[in-house]
Amino acid sequence: MDDVMAAPRAVTSAVLPILEAQHVTKRFAFGAETITALSDASLRIDKGEFICLIGPSGCGKSTLLRMVAGFESASEGSLLMWGKPVAAPGPDRGMVFQDYGLFPWLTVTQNVGFGPAARGRPKAEVAATARRFVDMVGLTRFADAYPHQLSGGMKQRVAIARVLANDAEVVLMDEPFGALDAFTRERLQEELLDIWAKAKLTVIFVTHAIEEAIILADRVVVMSPGPGRIVADERIDLARPRDPTSPEFNALRRHLSGLLGGHH
Ligand SMILES: Nc1ncnc2c1ncn2[C@@H]1O[C@H](COP(=O)(O)OP(=O)(O)OP(=O)(O)O)[C@@H](O)[C@H]1O
Ligand SMILES: [Mg+2]
Repeated sequence: MDDVMAAPRAVTSAVLPILEAQHVTKRFAFGAETITALSDASLRIDKGEFICLIGPSGCGKSTLLRMVAGFESASEGSLLMWGKPVAAPGPDRGMVFQDYGLFPWLTVTQNVGFGPAARGRPKAEVAATARRFVDMVGLTRFADAYPHQLSGGMKQRVAIARVLANDAEVVLMDEPFGALDAFTRERLQEELLDIWAKAKLTVIFVTHAIEEAIILADRVVVMSPGPGRIVADERIDLARPRDPTSPEFNALRRHLSGLLGGHH
């Protein structure tokens, strides 16, 4: 008899995560001692997710981020991007530094085109790539400006455009707004969410601030020190933009605060 009812398509096993930490431990030699900066950390991140890492000082947030960037290697366990071990820094993972790390002597366009130019891409391609990302982050009018002529938010956008021009799929940010006043910080959070949505980025964002994590993240990964460990991974199911005065927001704030325990 004909098989009129098509067999259900085999459900492929779960989608490959863009990043995966499997039982990652990182130890540092410190004089005669060994410091365990990160102990048995496991984490799966899907493409397009916005992840915030929170936790008190010394819990291994920067260490985990630097390992994803490829600046440090694991003592035990593995760190995979698209299923392959992260062995070194690469243009597919861009770090946005707190001071944005722009070259002051280059224009916005030249800063954004720096990566492709350094990798020897043809001039016309560098120019087209730079223009595309300068436009994407809304800086067309400032394409020929120098960093000192830009506001903090504009510098952040240049830094992100520069990472994107390298074909980065993952953007890593280590407390980028830590030193800013509340007003500027809120504006930069909005701008970051805007670019994240437009460019379909995967972001790992380190912060000390519970509220910032709830404003930004799809998932908040909570860490604790001594040794650094992942203690919780909470999904934030609130529609954006999020209202810090809503009861749901407050409930999450209390919940995360509880998870951080005496550490916060
Ligand atoms: N290169 C290193 N050599 C020795 N110890 C290190 C090194 N880097 C980090 N550590 C130690 O690893 C632990 C975790 O450090 P890490 O910088 O990851 O913490 P963090 O969560 O980012 O803290 P903070 O919130 O203060 O930035 C700390 O005890 C730190 O002293
Ligand atoms: Mg840190």
